Amino acid sequence: IDTTFRSAGSYRAPYLLENSDAAILRFPFPFPEDTYMYSMNIEPHVKAGEVDSLRRTFDVDEHYVVECQEKARILSEDPKRCIVLPHMQKAEWDFIELAMNSLSEDYPDLFHLSRDGMRWHWINRPLNIDQHFVFGDAGTLPYAPFEFMARQMQGDFTLQDQRDNDLWMDGGMVTSQADWSLKFDLGMSFKQWHAPVPKAGEMGIFDRGLRFLLMLQHGMPVRRLNWTMTINPRLDTSPENFTIWGRDRTVVTDDNAKDLVHLRVELQTLFRLPRSNAILFAVRCYLLPLRDIALVHKWRIRLHRVLRDLDPALSAYKGLDLYRAHAVHYLSQFDNNELTSKGI
Ligand code: HEM
Repeated sequence: IDTTFRSAGSYRAPYLLENSDAAILRFPFPFPEDTYMYSMNIEPHVKAGEVDSLRRTFDVDEHYVVECQEKARILSEDPKRCIVLPHMQKAEWDFIELAMNSLSEDYPDLFHLSRDGMRWHWINRPLNIDQHFVFGDAGTLPYAPFEFMARQMQGDFTLQDQRDNDLWMDGGMVTSQADWSLKFDLGMSFKQWHAPVPKAGEMGIFDRGLRFLLMLQHGMPVRRLNWTMTINPRLDTSPENFTIWGRDRTVVTDDNAKDLVHLRVELQTLFRLPRSNAILFAVRCYLLPLRDIALVHKWRIRLHRVLRDLDPALSAYKGLDLYRAHAVHYLSQFDNNELTSKGI
């Protein structure tokens, strides 16, 4: 893969996020049909898929360095974005092992891991990290193990303990979320943290999703795509900072929608961790403005129809009500009602 990283970019005002043509073409466009409703859209997370972003265990793209810098800044402003409960220590080391093995295997030019028994040596070239440590001995790392590694990866991560036939969100680092909070959800069960979501509970999706995850096997990760929309290329749309980004939703017009409104896609991957039996939930966020979506014929037509016909309960939950009509207005110019086929 092309491993050139952008040196400039800003995920807060003044915003600056540019996507190369290659980055646009690897965007995981989430709609297989012209309409959208929640579903059990879980598939094996194998190193294959329609776009390149799906083909590695953890996707690293041109925004890697700037995104890790933004994460570090959020953590310095609000250290409680990373919390791991004490009984999750084994899961922290499981995470280190999974992340270091996968990154060094998938990107040998960027990351290198050598292991001599418990003595490990980790090199992260893009972030200039060269760390010797003893696996299992937290005192040999500059941060707690989970935090050390999650700081070096794009996206959010939560650790779920499995007890009493349920999953409990007992740790995580969450800095690029779509309006939910780790502090608030910490210690909750699968159905408790999903309580704000409309419709999906009644449709049986959370019953089936939980049953499926309780049986997830080590070495057989799964993935699903989720989506929402965000004004400006802002990663940190957290409830904690709602006063900063919430009002941006009121300034969208028919004219500026193409630049301000971004389709926000989450590539969610789920892994059983071997020692702790915990589940790692990873959320990789991709942001693309409507003007870039409009470069791809099928995407601009499909997004127009999805947004135009979106269930009002989903529109309200995703926070789109203040500007959805402007996005639909912009995209409508591309749609002359031609028939499209399923799949992308
Ligand atoms: C939303 C976490 C697995 C379906 C959410 C939210 C969180 C979350 C924090 C936001 C809730 C809010 O508004 O406060 C997780 C974690 C999972 C997991 C940690 C695994 C351990 C799943 C699975 C499914 C699912 C397996 C479906 C099969 C959904 C749906 C939404 C949602 C449909 C609403 C998303 C939207 O409309 O933007 N999840 N989830 N989740 N989750 Fe999950």
